[in-house]
Amino acid sequence: MEFKLNSDYAIPAVGLGTWQSTGEDAHRAVKHALSVGYRHIDSAVGYSNEKEVGRGIRDSEVPRDQIFVTTKITNAVLTGEDAAKQIDESLANFGTDYLDLVLIHWPWTYERNAAVYAAMEKAVDAGKIRSIGVSNFNIHHLDALLEDARITPAANQMECHVSLQNTRLKEYLDGKGILLEAYAPMKSRKIGDVLEDETLKEIGAAHGKTPTQVSLRWLLQRGIVALPKSVTPSRIEENFQLFDFELSDEEMRKIRKLNKAERLFPEPDNVDFGFLKL
Ligand SMILES: NC(=O)c1ccc[n+]([C@@H]2O[C@H](COP(=O)([O-])OP(=O)(O)OC[C@H]3O[C@@H](n4cnc5c(N)ncnc54)[C@H](OP(=O)(O)O)[C@@H]3O)[C@@H](O)[C@H]2O)c1
Repeated sequence: MEFKLNSDYAIPAVGLGTWQSTGEDAHRAVKHALSVGYRHIDSAVGYSNEKEVGRGIRDSEVPRDQIFVTTKITNAVLTGEDAAKQIDESLANFGTDYLDLVLIHWPWTYERNAAVYAAMEKAVDAGKIRSIGVSNFNIHHLDALLEDARITPAANQMECHVSLQNTRLKEYLDGKGILLEAYAPMKSRKIGDVLEDETLKEIGAAHGKTPTQVSLRWLLQRGIVALPKSVTPSRIEENFQLFDFELSDEEMRKIRKLNKAERLFPEPDNVDFGFLKL
């Protein structure tokens, strides 16, 4: 299953998350994911795993042009010059001559966001990146960026799961043709909440699926990319078995009621960037 980006490239609807996957774990996870059908890997300079992810891609049986690779520019990058340098370093780390999607990891000042984004646009012109976008951008960050952007961002990667459904942001992004990508799609360190949720368990039982599979399928049916992370082979497989069932409108409605605006990651307007180095 794929979605179409405004850059005209297709993006696989499920991508392997790799935050906190490092060293040999990251290499093995990527290789295993590609062997069971994943075609999309989500990385970031801040995850310190670009080299291992690149090695996992090269060691897989899957040709590079069939894999969608995302990375993110760190908060330490404040100027266009540094952004251009970091893009070149990412290309070298992955061992590839183009990246499918590069995101600004977190917003900062409007001026800094615009300068970094302009460098990303130039990298698109140079054929180094196919699509560009942002992450953790609230509506006001996007409104400001769009005033100067030559290329509309293709995606905004945000925390999104059954307890933080981002309905208003999704409507805004739909209006601008920007795809929403869900990070922490299974509630990350609070995945226990998903595993034990009675509604998700009941819906899962009706389809012979696990609560995590239901929570991921629910994102896909909303037109949102899901980025489940795991380094455990059986879970990597489980999180990709999402294409042989469909949630009914009634089931989608029941899951909508689980929204409680519960945030596990910092609210982008309230981040102390002195501490957040990603
Ligand atoms: N843009 C951003 O600022 C940002 C922020 C956070 C995350 N992300 C991206 O989004 C991805 C996903 O977010 P996340 O890693 O925080 O959270 P997540 O994918 O919601 O949850 C990952 C956790 O759930 C466990 N798990 C995975 N599948 C499971 C299953 N089927 N059953 C039980 N447990 C399972 C994993 O353990 P094991 O690995 O031990 O199996 C890991 O502890 C990240 O990896 C990263 O690529 C982006």
